[in-house]
Amino acid sequence: MRKPLVAANWKMNKNLNEVLDFAGEFSRKLPHGSVAKVDIVICPAFTHLAALTANSVLPGGVVVGGQDSHWEEKGAFTGCISPVMLKDLRVRYVIVGHSERRQYFSESSNMLAGKLTATLKAGLIPIFCVGEKLEERQTGRTFKVLEEQMTEALQFVPKELASDSSRFILAYEPVWAIGTGQNATPGQAQEAHKHLRGLLAWLWGAETAGQIRILYGGSVTPDNFAAIMACPDVDGGLVGGASLDAERFVKLIEIAAAR
Ligand code: 13P
Repeated sequence: MRKPLVAANWKMNKNLNEVLDFAGEFSRKLPHGSVAKVDIVICPAFTHLAALTANSVLPGGVVVGGQDSHWEEKGAFTGCISPVMLKDLRVRYVIVGHSERRQYFSESSNMLAGKLTATLKAGLIPIFCVGEKLEERQTGRTFKVLEEQMTEALQFVPKELASDSSRFILAYEPVWAIGTGQNATPGQAQEAHKHLRGLLAWLWGAETAGQIRILYGGSVTPDNFAAIMACPDVDGGLVGGASLDAERFVKLIEIAAAR
């Protein structure tokens, strides 16, 4: 049985006061025992990581993730943050290959392979994002694009690092569903997740593939999440907009816990 995971991706949102307000409200509203049923991850901007990992700011067991990380441990890369630096801040997860990074920062599969390897070497858990654009779906290329994104990045990641099923999270985020209010239907999500699990099996074997959690992301809300979570190959959510509000984020966690 795969334990559900719900991750908040706050992107470039919230100032420090808003982060602390969220943490207070979230701590009050999260039902006791939630972390035993659901892994909960919050990915704020880099500048707010330390505020959230400070003692008792978040409920016990709720952990923090980075939204990106570099492929080197250190060096002349102005403006960048390495996985080792994230580790210093008690960060546990790192989002790798989000479509906004691919689109606005031209992140290639080669770079993503490096980022995945560096993340895993630092002992952090990558949340590796893949997903097709609208035009790719409309022209029947969804599976092909997923295959390319998976194999191009993962073939260069040392198998012994990545194939520990508890240390690797995959996220299916169809680009057309991100921030649009147009979520994938449960059928579309299940079909893509099943295909991704097949690709994981091809890469790392059926047993590992059966244990790796695959999150759905793209316009997740408390209204649509239960139906998506009911899909057998959906193991949680990677949530943007709806995670910015503590009450809505708690609702999503409760939905995942009830599965
Ligand atoms: P939304 O939930 O705002 O569509 O964003 C999804 C996302 O990009 C999470 O990484």
